Amino acid sequence: MVAAAAVAGAKSRPKLVVGNWKMNGSVAANATLLDALKAASLGSAEVAVCVPAPYLRDVANSLLGSAIAWGGQDCSRHESGAFTGEVSAAMLAELGCRYVIVGHSERRALHGESDELVAAKARTALAAGLVPIVCVGETLAERERGATDAIVGRQLNAVTELLGARIEGVVVAYEPVWAIGTGKTATPAEAEAVHAFLRKRLAAAGAASSELRILYGGSVKPDNAAQLFAEADIDGGLIGGASLKAAEFIAICRAAG
Ligand code: PGA
Repeated sequence: MVAAAAVAGAKSRPKLVVGNWKMNGSVAANATLLDALKAASLGSAEVAVCVPAPYLRDVANSLLGSAIAWGGQDCSRHESGAFTGEVSAAMLAELGCRYVIVGHSERRALHGESDELVAAKARTALAAGLVPIVCVGETLAERERGATDAIVGRQLNAVTELLGARIEGVVVAYEPVWAIGTGKTATPAEAEAVHAFLRKRLAAAGAASSELRILYGGSVKPDNAAQLFAEADIDGGLIGGASLKAAEFIAICRAAG
């Protein structure tokens, strides 16, 4: 496939592996995990960890000068003001974040986040100089009734419509809801089909989609990572559970390059 890509003039997309710690960790456990990551050889992929906001300062201090980037797991759509409990994109940027996850399915499902809100968060993040990692994904019921493309297409459209040409500054993560934290992974072919669909949609929206990275997330483990990352349109992973275990996360990073 390398030859075909070269013939088509496709840009190379450096692989990206992002750990999503979710609401896990402690000051001591984080230090141990980060020390292990820093001591390891992670390969050539870009690596980042998205951590709970209270730990960002410590994580920044630990990772400064390393090759590992860091980010938040959510941000407000607003720049600042009376929004108790919210974290602004500017605050994340001030703490050296490169990335922020927006629209994770747990936030869509458990916090009622709409497509429109997720798009607004992506716009706010970009304006603060962050790279939003925009998550999309279908539930099992949606997949079973053949609505996967319609659902992820709708979720992506909200973002492309609001951002216009700025869509080029985002990373997209395809995370089938039924694969998150369940141990059930999409097969490489299932994932690739959705990634290729998303890339086509991005191209239709005017993005230089050959350069835009689309990550796969949902029960990525050391034993399935390499096969997933070998697919033409899978540019790395968004890793939940396995990102909390140093040996597993290191192995996944290595599988990406
Ligand atoms: P998982 O989570 O790797 O534990 O399935 C992925 C995610 O929710 O980003």
